[in-house]
Amino acid sequence: MGGVAQVHHLNLLLPHPAKYTTRTRRSSTRTGRARRRGVLCCSLSTDGQPAAAAAVGAPMMTISITGATGFVGRRLVQKLLSEDHKVCVLTRSASKATSIFPASKCPGITIAEQGDWDKCIQGSTAVVNLAGMPISTRWSPEIKKEIKESRINVTSKVVNYINNASVDARPSVFVSATAIGFFGTSEISSFDESSPSGNDYLAEVCREWEARARQVNQENVRLVLLRIGVVLGKDGGALAKMIPLFMMFTGGPLGTGRQWFSWIHLDDLVDLIYESLKNPAYRGVINGTAPNPVRLGGRGGGGGGGRVIGRPSWLPVPEFALKAVLGEGASVVLEGQKVLPVKAKQLGFSYQYPYVQDALRAIARDL
Ligand SMILES: NC(=O)c1ccc[n+]([C@@H]2O[C@H](COP(=O)([O-])OP(=O)(O)OC[C@H]3O[C@@H](n4cnc5c(N)ncnc54)[C@H](OP(=O)(O)O)[C@@H]3O)[C@@H](O)[C@H]2O)c1
Repeated sequence: MGGVAQVHHLNLLLPHPAKYTTRTRRSSTRTGRARRRGVLCCSLSTDGQPAAAAAVGAPMMTISITGATGFVGRRLVQKLLSEDHKVCVLTRSASKATSIFPASKCPGITIAEQGDWDKCIQGSTAVVNLAGMPISTRWSPEIKKEIKESRINVTSKVVNYINNASVDARPSVFVSATAIGFFGTSEISSFDESSPSGNDYLAEVCREWEARARQVNQENVRLVLLRIGVVLGKDGGALAKMIPLFMMFTGGPLGTGRQWFSWIHLDDLVDLIYESLKNPAYRGVINGTAPNPVRLGGRGGGGGGGRVIGRPSWLPVPEFALKAVLGEGASVVLEGQKVLPVKAKQLGFSYQYPYVQDALRAIARDL
């Protein structure tokens, strides 16, 4: 594990005094093109040189990311590269990461296994922490322990590396994922960033996960804790596992049908992370959810988003079927909570998908 030999393109990391360089160009069209092709884009300018090297303007960042190989991380990396930033993928497996981000397509990327994470973090502008064992499994006592410890251990490690970095090498921003499970579940209450934590297992996981992130030296590092809702996208997360069930079942409520579903489209979450990196006003806890949560009331319910996946009502899936694919992780959709993104709205964050019907339609178009 570790060793410089396992780090690809480590020389692409900028030296500390150049943590910020400048550029002018946005490249949203490339992001769109790459998304359609389903490949990860890289940040080449038209003359074949890394675009960031030649351009002048807005700050260019180097961002170290744990969990970059996951559902959210892959899209975040794609976005950052398309905006001409440099990315360091902090992973447990360089070979897995290399297959996801091949060097030929991603020259702006560095891949580091655990022994080399500190080298990448030192000299990065920012760190994004997305790692954690998936919760959509059967929850044996051992797995519950690993779900929690995987998050706590990675977060502790990253925080130590940030805190121990010398002043000129220290990242100035730490964006750490957590989840709306922090609030517990309720059919009647709604939760914003100031609401207290719940008292179930996921609430406990989130509290301890956040507590580790808060140990970052906040005098020098801006901390953003994103309490993420159920992320909707076609290539991963709970929805990808549920899509075959949508195809099989055509009606009836999900669970009681009274529970709230606080969701966010993957593209909006990635934009929220990107804003958190760039904008000094983003600080502290921010709920990473869309502004319009829905009740999962089956036919006609769930925000009225029927026919989005070619079936008469969306989420028309019985509880047993959901548990078969999500294990006890199904609790996030069978129980649920109404979480409002008060802070993101105050900050003026602009959602591409404020309504679930639009989010699901966009995803269904890509299927
Ligand atoms: N997706 C959602 O709906 C949702 C909702 C709320 C919160 N979140 C949180 O947001 C973060 C990103 O979500 P995601 O859906 O992108 O997650 P994901 O696809 O499951 O990926 C997470 C990454 O974490 C690393 N990882 C997996 N198991 C691990 C373990 N046992 N120990 C250490 N690292 C491990 C892996 O990276 P390497 O193999 O490269 O190390 C993996 O690619 C997660 O922390 C998740 O809990 C997600």
